[in-house]
Amino acid sequence: MAAQKLQLVPAAPSPEELAAAAERDAEGQANFDRVMAQDSRIEPRDWMPAAYRKTLLRQISQHAHSEIIGMQPEANWISRAPSLKRKGILMAKVQDEAGHGLYLYSAAETLGQSRDDMMDALIAGKARYSSIFNYPARTWADMGAIGWLVDGAAICNQVPLCRASYGPYGRAMVRVCKEESFHQRQGFEILLELSNGTAAQKQMAQDAVNRWYAPALMMFGPPDDDSPNSRQSMAWNIKRFSNDELRSRFVGMMVEQVRVLGLTLPDEQVRFNDETKKWEHGPLDWNEFKEVLAGRGPCNAQRVERRRQAHDDGAWVREAAAAYAAKQSAKQKEVVA
Ligand SMILES: [Fe+2]
Ligand SMILES: [Fe+2]
Repeated sequence: MAAQKLQLVPAAPSPEELAAAAERDAEGQANFDRVMAQDSRIEPRDWMPAAYRKTLLRQISQHAHSEIIGMQPEANWISRAPSLKRKGILMAKVQDEAGHGLYLYSAAETLGQSRDDMMDALIAGKARYSSIFNYPARTWADMGAIGWLVDGAAICNQVPLCRASYGPYGRAMVRVCKEESFHQRQGFEILLELSNGTAAQKQMAQDAVNRWYAPALMMFGPPDDDSPNSRQSMAWNIKRFSNDELRSRFVGMMVEQVRVLGLTLPDEQVRFNDETKKWEHGPLDWNEFKEVLAGRGPCNAQRVERRRQAHDDGAWVREAAAAYAAKQSAKQKEVVA
């Protein structure tokens, strides 16, 4: 007869244990509320409400996935960059994005989810990431438009996150933002060079800006009245400004910079509202946004498939690293013995 595994049923907590747990929760909540009121920081070992942990895990893991998937549209152009200098810059930039993904996966791990689980969700097509990376990069000028608009929007979004109430997230953002500002400048510089080149090059730059402008504006998320999680994230000092507020600031920045580029924004309704003191823009296609987010954008399937392939191709590296670590720890034990 096959041996049956003994199933240990955990004993129900005693009334004393329940009372002690309730007391810990009450103390933890009081500390958490104090930290929020002082605009200070929560660290991994601190007590935190389950919903706060869940919100952060969702946001940080989505952010990490966006960095990793975001490598793809640009990586496609490394081998086709027009010069050695451009190739070197683009390679460094794509490598930075991999680093951003790693800081963020590490920050998410401090909340109790393993990187393997996050990666499994991504390659199973179950995890979300920024919808912008599901658009194709058609020409070299797209490298300029992505750096200028996509990394530019990322900076607007992420600078306030340097002050996020969760310590590991805020600290990761400080380094990420420094690198993002280099990314934006390199994009701007690509567009500037094309804009000052031949008529065909200038047209290529304008075409890329035309295609990336609206998706970049949608990176800030849905309008405030359709963004149910924003209010709570702002109460928890994770998010500092609303989606529409950040989008308006971004439009203002782009209006100035596009003049220097000698190009135009594909939006005739951009204007500064003197009463509200805010920049306004034309309507955005939120149906398209929802479609892309739901997995029906131009490149969703291709992006996830490529990520899955890269993960499979990297299996030997993970195995070799694990074998090396095991060998090192065995050696260490020998020395101690
Ligand atoms: Fe990044
Ligand atoms: Fe970037």
